[in-house]
Amino acid sequence: MLICVMGLQRTLNYFQRILSLRSTSVVPSSMFGEASQSRSHLFTTPIFYVNAGPHLGHVYSAVQADVQYRYATLCGEDARLSTGTDEHGMKVQQTAVALGADLHTLCSSVSHQFRSVFDSLDISYTDFVRTSESHHAQAVKRFWLTLEEKGYIYKGIYQGWYCTSDEAFLSEEQTAEGRDPNGNQIRVSVESGHQVHWMSEENYMFRLSSLRPLLLRWLQSDPIRPTKFLRVVHHWLEDDLPDLSVSRHRSRLSWGIPVPSDPSHVIYVWLDALVNYLTAAGYPDPHLAPWGPSTHILGKDILRFHAIYWPAFLLAAGLPPPRTLFVHSHWTCKGVKMSKSLQNVVDPIECMRRYTRDGLRYYLLRNGAPERDCDFNHHAVHALLNAELADALGGLLNRCTAHAINPMQHFPKYYPNSIPLSAHGQLNDLLRSLQELPSEVEQRVKTFHVNKALEAIYARVRQTNAFFQSQAPWKLCGGIKEESEWGDSVLYITLEALRLYATLLQPAVPGLSKALLERLGVPPVHRTLKGGSFLAAAWGENCCFQGHPLGPDCGVLFPRLEKKSNKEPIIIGKSG
Ligand code: ME8
Ligand code: MG
Repeated sequence: MLICVMGLQRTLNYFQRILSLRSTSVVPSSMFGEASQSRSHLFTTPIFYVNAGPHLGHVYSAVQADVQYRYATLCGEDARLSTGTDEHGMKVQQTAVALGADLHTLCSSVSHQFRSVFDSLDISYTDFVRTSESHHAQAVKRFWLTLEEKGYIYKGIYQGWYCTSDEAFLSEEQTAEGRDPNGNQIRVSVESGHQVHWMSEENYMFRLSSLRPLLLRWLQSDPIRPTKFLRVVHHWLEDDLPDLSVSRHRSRLSWGIPVPSDPSHVIYVWLDALVNYLTAAGYPDPHLAPWGPSTHILGKDILRFHAIYWPAFLLAAGLPPPRTLFVHSHWTCKGVKMSKSLQNVVDPIECMRRYTRDGLRYYLLRNGAPERDCDFNHHAVHALLNAELADALGGLLNRCTAHAINPMQHFPKYYPNSIPLSAHGQLNDLLRSLQELPSEVEQRVKTFHVNKALEAIYARVRQTNAFFQSQAPWKLCGGIKEESEWGDSVLYITLEALRLYATLLQPAVPGLSKALLERLGVPPVHRTLKGGSFLAAAWGENCCFQGHPLGPDCGVLFPRLEKKSNKEPIIIGKSG
């Protein structure tokens, strides 16, 4: 009963705080609306720790971010995509000591591994930030000085739990009793399960507690997808929001960026890391508008840092908070979160070798659902890629480009007056669902449901195959004029449908889409979504693709995967 009353009181306090926001706000309301329109839209991945090499989870965030970036540019938007490596802090320092490695060598070597995996996966990043680089250190120092000038930094005593594995400060309630692998009693983080240690030291503090009203106001702009994570953040803000320790004494942590006015302290690694997004945007170049619209793609493990600390830092510095956070859940291996520390991670390089780059991208995007964890399973990869890419999409291409059925190797003409009565219903259904597809895909991509966008495309591929099968154009090549005209129309519709799928699939599977567009003979100017029109002849309009020649035969679009490569997942046994 007491708990109930306390819970109610807490909820009431919370709503009172929301209601009082308007009067307490000190930041211009324009900061919550559109950020400076003169800047490109910045899409970002997290920057990854260099304590171990890349695994499938990291690659998933990068592929998701790449889709957002490519989709925006395909629609004609001015965008950038940044990624990189997080190289400072206690965790990396301890890894170097444990490995007996030189810090700079370790950072360069692992950072290079991330870059090279992203290159192999065709992640089209425009910026790769390494936090050990000097232009990033300049951005962090400038940002720190701004926070100091605005009165958000003070010196104080920090006492509490610290989790090195997560580089996070935790309250008593965020920790619990646990056991280490030898059965000894230890204290752990409730959220991550990693060990925590007690610390007590004088360092610099950030006035996080004063920013709660502004954070709540930012949340009103509905910036977090899927919405279940928005609710989590609201819930966190119902709790205490203590000030945050943002430096460590150099005697404990030497690997980091010094506090500009006091080199005996090193800046907290999360403040350093989050500023990487500003570094990528060119901050603090005085010739640039400070910070444009941003969409951060991240895993749910680092939600608190991005949904509380990051907007709080930006708001304190007088900059607009992020426009959107796209948060995804975790890939698991036999039900357990894939993580470097657990050594149960799947190797993306081996996956690409088995499934091809586009095969891996397609599987991750199609099967990964942002709102729930997903288990990686090689049997599922085989079944999905064979059914959807090899059989359905590849099969459709083969059918309408085969020489026997398309001897002219072109998009035939569409004849509206030769449609048999019996085909009207199926044709209208197909045309309607093709017409709806681009806006459905847009809506799915923009709400971070790329899995659903791909599902919608696949459903249309199947529908087109069924239409082709039941209209059987191979039987319509005889001497009757109406019949052969209908045969041409069926081919026109199928080829135009394929052109639509290839265009829409570019952000997800750029290599495979390119091969498809080339086989269809689609010139690069016709590959964007900006102003693109499909099936125009079927809508009674002029279509420049009628009579257009196909491109050269590119062979099999996506070769079926053989059973023999269907082995157990490649787990990286040792971290690295
Ligand atoms: O947290 N499933 O770096 P990190 C899906 N440096 N995604 C996963 C995953 C899994 N099993 N494991 C990791 C850090 N990820 C900080 C970030 S950003 C300013 C600083 C992905 O190397 C996911 O995006 O621990 C997660 O949030 C991120 O890698 C954590 O990478
Ligand atoms: Mg981590």
